[in-house]
Amino acid sequence: MTKLAIIGGTGLTQLSDLTIIKTEKMDTPYGASSAAFVTGELCGKEVIFLARHGNPHTIAPHKINYRANIWALKQLGVEKIIAVAAVGGITQEMVPAHIAIPDQIIDYSYGRLHTFFDDEKYPLTHIDFSYPYNQALRAGLITAAAAANIGISTYGTYGCTQGPRLETAAEIKRLAQDGCDLVGMTGMPEAALAKELGIEYAAISVIANWGAGISAGEITMAEIEENLHVGMANMAKVLKAFIAAT
Ligand code: HPA
Repeated sequence: MTKLAIIGGTGLTQLSDLTIIKTEKMDTPYGASSAAFVTGELCGKEVIFLARHGNPHTIAPHKINYRANIWALKQLGVEKIIAVAAVGGITQEMVPAHIAIPDQIIDYSYGRLHTFFDDEKYPLTHIDFSYPYNQALRAGLITAAAAANIGISTYGTYGCTQGPRLETAAEIKRLAQDGCDLVGMTGMPEAALAKELGIEYAAISVIANWGAGISAGEITMAEIEENLHVGMANMAKVLKAFIAAT
């Protein structure tokens, strides 16, 4: 069976219902990963779980060691990654607590160590990144959502911002004009690094709030937590249906 990893973001620091088999730390040439890698069984299948922001959740998006995380997963034999992340919603369909399976990325982040191909360890390669998410994995997630009876959006351009602050209203307006449906802080360089190492990668975006300036008033942590509570419960159903079918 191909090895599957789940990378959990805000609102998913642990995979509930995972029967833990082992927990291991990994040394990498890029430094320490965000957390230990938890191998366990979910729906009768083996999966590896990694908490992107650490466990407990302390690592800011721009400080995540994306290279260590992806390199270690490759060493563990992982061939497929499902990346779960909280996002802001920008376009009409992307309402809080809803789920989307994004199909495109625009990267606005900066200053992150974003490639393996910058020293002697790997030969310089310009990967094709026209379609950043693996189409077969995306299709599997979309089918799983239907099987679990969870309504989702089957598309979405994900704009990756630097964080950790949320955006200004003008920044969200600009993202909308650029064609972004969703905004998050951790989608890149994670997706590109996975592609560089030949790991199939798809994402589940759980919408925590409207992007800045879309709804009246400030974006509060209480609102984010409330929406993530609902969205992550639905996400878990999609994930389980996906794993059961793989
Ligand atoms: N912007 C960026 N990242 C996010 C947001 C947002 O509004 N909500 C959750 N993650």
